[in-house]
Amino acid sequence: MSAYTRRQLLVYCTLTAAVTVIAGGIFAETAYQPVRETVVSWIRGDDSPPAPAATPRPRSADLRDSTTLAVLSRRSQEIMEARESQLGVDKQKELMSLWHELRIWQNLWYLGIRIQKNPMDTWMMQQVIYDVQPDFIIETGTAYGGSALLWAHVLNGLGLEDSRVLTIDITDYNQQAAEQPLWQKHVQFFHGSSTDPEIVSQIGEMVAGKKVLVALDSNHAGEHVLDELRAYGPMVSPGSYIVAEDTNLDALPLREELAHLDGGYGPMWAVLQFLDEEDGQQFEQDLTRENFVLTFNPGGWLKRKTSTGSGQ
Ligand SMILES: C[S@@+](CC[C@H](N)C(=O)[O-])C[C@H]1O[C@@H](n2cnc3c(N)ncnc32)[C@H](O)[C@@H]1O
Repeated sequence: MSAYTRRQLLVYCTLTAAVTVIAGGIFAETAYQPVRETVVSWIRGDDSPPAPAATPRPRSADLRDSTTLAVLSRRSQEIMEARESQLGVDKQKELMSLWHELRIWQNLWYLGIRIQKNPMDTWMMQQVIYDVQPDFIIETGTAYGGSALLWAHVLNGLGLEDSRVLTIDITDYNQQAAEQPLWQKHVQFFHGSSTDPEIVSQIGEMVAGKKVLVALDSNHAGEHVLDELRAYGPMVSPGSYIVAEDTNLDALPLREELAHLDGGYGPMWAVLQFLDEEDGQQFEQDLTRENFVLTFNPGGWLKRKTSTGSGQ
């Protein structure tokens, strides 16, 4: 064993401690925050692919007045009352809370591909696709590709040979889905943000004059959903839909549990803002699409009125 003097040992220990402190400081400044965010999202059970950091945008203060939460609550209550023939409001709230606790969307696959949806809404979407017979389904938020693959399967089953799913995501975790023959036949993936003006205009040109159905399932922060509603709403054909998904995040009865989302302003807030705008007035909330009660999209099934002014 080599003989170190006490002085050499002291110098060695001091150097080791200094290097550890400096490395720890660098880690805290650079790597700790993303690691912490990833761990927090695992703990919260959100295992979507990590998204690149969003560019902060100034808030439009005029859209976020003090009465907004009251309006959200009132509209949520009205929606539940409108469905009262099926189940009382209290039972609906209880059922929704229990359904949400199951976190069923975390454990679903379609043809072996992860799909992150409420299966009751997926079933209703299949009915909507049948009713609309769209040339294009625009989907924001692809993730692993399970939902795009499912829409492709429905289009294929309907014999809509030329119909396409245009799906957009800032991540590209859909390679496995993209190997499937149905994907290759019916799906086109756009890698980027759903609100990127270039993507919006490219898609706008592709779908002009066609039968178009839209599903918004990307970033559920209110302002992003509002931007998506403004960008893709005008592309929806009369009698078809733009579905603002996961309005349950900021509607009752779950808002209190999920208020982490942009301070409680999510898709439901965006829907109410949009319906007040000129383009939004072309749409109405179609509550018949909520007949299963266990929907994650209360008030989010927006049907474009036909020229007669009716959504029918
Ligand atoms: C809930 S997941 C989509 C789930 C998928 N539709 C399904 O049912 O399997 C949300 C996705 O939105 C994506 N996303 C987040 N911000 C986005 C943006 N600005 N534009 C496009 N996609 C975005 C995320 O990367 C994530 O993959």
